[in-house]
Amino acid sequence: MIGNEIEAALNKQISAEANSSHLYLAMASWAETRGFEGVSNFFYSQSDEERQHMLKLVRYVNERGGHAKAPAINEPSKMFDCLTHVFQNFLDHEVKVSALINDLVHLCHEKRDYTTQNFLQWYVAEQIEEEALARTILDKLKLIGDDKGGLYLFDRDVNQLTVTSAAAPDINA
Ligand code: FEO
Repeated sequence: MIGNEIEAALNKQISAEANSSHLYLAMASWAETRGFEGVSNFFYSQSDEERQHMLKLVRYVNERGGHAKAPAINEPSKMFDCLTHVFQNFLDHEVKVSALINDLVHLCHEKRDYTTQNFLQWYVAEQIEEEALARTILDKLKLIGDDKGGLYLFDRDVNQLTVTSAAAPDINA
């Protein structure tokens, strides 16, 4: 059985994951209207992933005898000027989510809820990967700068970028 405080904290995280999904949907749509098809597909998949993160929490809370609430979703307030701006927002957002997960793990430790603490380890690992991916992509964009040919190739190849490809020499090959 899950404690009230942990249940409330997990419900807050459910809301955060749902809002992440919505933010990435806004990014996908922005990219699609600007002709960046690859970036748009990237953020549509990120949006789907965040929904999976949310659902995993929903199922866990209910399995442990709590009640997961379907959260209210805020309209993303940010407008984007360029790809670097979008991916900087992606990184900033993931850094914030990592801090939320860390706070949750800390709370579990305080409340001696080691089952939930263990469950959250998957999210800890996921956050490391997502932050690393966002940094990798931002580094690539900084190298490309305003070069239109470079941006065209970046858009074509962005879905192939993974954390491990951070060390790859050239996405334009
Ligand atoms: Fe579910 Fe990207 O944090």
